[in-house]
Amino acid sequence: MRHVMTKEIPGAGDIRDYLASQEQKSLMRFLTCGSVDDGKSTLIGRLLYDTKLIFEDQLAALEKDSLKHGTNGADIDFALLVDGLEAEREQGITIDVAYRFFATPKRKFIVADTPGHEQYTRNMATGASTADLAVVLVDARQGILRQTRRHSIIASLLGIRHIALAVNKFDLVGFDRQVFERIAAEYRDFAANLGFATIEPIPMSARYGDNVTRRSSEMPWYSGPTLLEHLENISIDAVAVDRPFRFPVQYVNRPNLDFRGFAGTVASGSVNKGDDVVVAKSGKLSRVKRIVAQGGDLARAVEGQAVTLVLEDEVEVSRGNMLVSPYTRPHVADQFAANLVWFDESALLPGRSYILRTETDQANATVSDLQYRINVNDFAHEAAKTLEMNEVGVVSVSVQAPIAFDNFADNRTTGAFILIDRMTNATVGAGMILNPLRRAANIHWQSLDVDKKARALAKHQKSAVLWFTGLSGSGKSTIANMLEKKLHSAGHHTYLLDGDNIRHGLNRDLGFTDEDRVENIRRVAEVARLMADAGLIVLVSFISPFRAERQMAREMLEEGEFVEVFVDTPFDECARRDPKGLYAKALSGAIRNFTGVDSPYEAPEKPEIHLETLGKSPEEMVEALENWLRERENGDQQYDSGGGI
Ligand code: ADX
Repeated sequence: MRHVMTKEIPGAGDIRDYLASQEQKSLMRFLTCGSVDDGKSTLIGRLLYDTKLIFEDQLAALEKDSLKHGTNGADIDFALLVDGLEAEREQGITIDVAYRFFATPKRKFIVADTPGHEQYTRNMATGASTADLAVVLVDARQGILRQTRRHSIIASLLGIRHIALAVNKFDLVGFDRQVFERIAAEYRDFAANLGFATIEPIPMSARYGDNVTRRSSEMPWYSGPTLLEHLENISIDAVAVDRPFRFPVQYVNRPNLDFRGFAGTVASGSVNKGDDVVVAKSGKLSRVKRIVAQGGDLARAVEGQAVTLVLEDEVEVSRGNMLVSPYTRPHVADQFAANLVWFDESALLPGRSYILRTETDQANATVSDLQYRINVNDFAHEAAKTLEMNEVGVVSVSVQAPIAFDNFADNRTTGAFILIDRMTNATVGAGMILNPLRRAANIHWQSLDVDKKARALAKHQKSAVLWFTGLSGSGKSTIANMLEKKLHSAGHHTYLLDGDNIRHGLNRDLGFTDEDRVENIRRVAEVARLMADAGLIVLVSFISPFRAERQMAREMLEEGEFVEVFVDTPFDECARRDPKGLYAKALSGAIRNFTGVDSPYEAPEKPEIHLETLGKSPEEMVEALENWLRERENGDQQYDSGGGI
């Protein structure tokens, strides 16, 4: 994510110095949210301008730009000050999160300017993660919109305790007191259950500066604070050193054999030299020998400080683990419930494997259950199978290996996580942990004496999973069936898992939506893994349309065991053959979500075996497969029928 800094601060590297020089003042972090046209950028521009933090040269540039792009005639367009980048200016919307610093004699501020466009919830979640207060903008002419509600719910989920409701553009409603009172009442009513500590509605006109930093003479009926007064005076929770000590380990610092320290930032609480600490995941106890910081050793480190801890004992602590207080330990679990905000254009698919990342830890994880979706208008809990972009829900998450965490309500750093799509690497969701789930606690791996190798050896073979993927009617099952017959008569021990058959039993509860297909393949991959563990040669014949799930199946098996066979028959040919009459039905609209028609097929990029079937007989395909299998011992060859038979 790009972080844009305004020019008035000497440069990103100097921000720490700047803040240090202001150390005696309290720091307040806030973010602004609102719809595109609510005047958010104008408001921030106004705050910066009125607090005299704009450099003269920047001001001159602004005046020039206002004439070129502005929407305010010859007036200065404050939105341009904030919208900054040319590309964004051209689009007329702000993208990404811009952090800005400013200070008044009373307080210093960091403001995260987050775009209000529907598809940019992601940025809001990014900007909100450390904020104390949210300025929620509303256009006085429009009142509370769906977007206002959505942003407020997300702010609440992200642990923001204070809301300043900036009811903007009062100049356009004749500075009417009733409009203000109606909107303020409606918002208070809506937000009553969101757990905010304070809600301060303020009527204003950012464009003309009324009630932003200067009291408006147009609204004598308003006796509350201006926005800046409110930001300066509201009491926010100070850093609490008595919270449990949490130190997520960023990396192990081992410059030479004599020094081994754990580097990171204190996420909460404090630690003293000589304190007992435990390694969260292993429960190993040790004691703090040294607290090393940039200027030398410290006796104590508190929340927010970046230090390197040296322990008395040689304990194993890897990146991603946490050093914590032995008396109040975090949860260590592989399942938990969480609020999840979904950002991505492709919907959340329960059962799909995502990368879960906490402050410092990372593991594969799936959403094992979508408990419900939250309606942003009335908080209703709605049954849902998936979360679409910008939707919010309560989910159960299952992580491949236990992670250490706190409930988000107790700790906004160690209780938060993001989900990353394994194929695109995009951050697709942000989660706030509610509580660990102990459903499957106390289940450990049982070590068994007869293992896969022994079982396979007894059958004189090597376990394998031949995974046939391709469109319906491409010939997967025909080829797999013929191959199994041959393998069987050659004395091999095999099993064929076929989509149509499995869907009559194990997967009879699943249909053809994306989320059902993900679950379909997850279950089959688990079964194939067990069968491979039994020493069998498993043939799997499923459309398996998504790369992510085929990749997941591959990763469940040992190196070389998973053989992806792409049965590549063009859509038109499958539709022409139409062995079950399904293409005709799908093309006429009688069947929905049909692969290749209105449901996607993601062709393999690097299958072990690529069978282009056009103009070839199934027998030829099977022979090619047999040859490949025979040569399998010789290494990792690729087979492409295009250049082969
Ligand atoms: S998968 O996409 O989830 O892997 P699977 O291989 O189990 O699909 O099942 C596909 C079979 O179900 C097809 O061969 C076809 O006979 C049948 N079928 C019924 N409806 C559909 C549909 N909407 N899309 C694809 N296949 C369907």
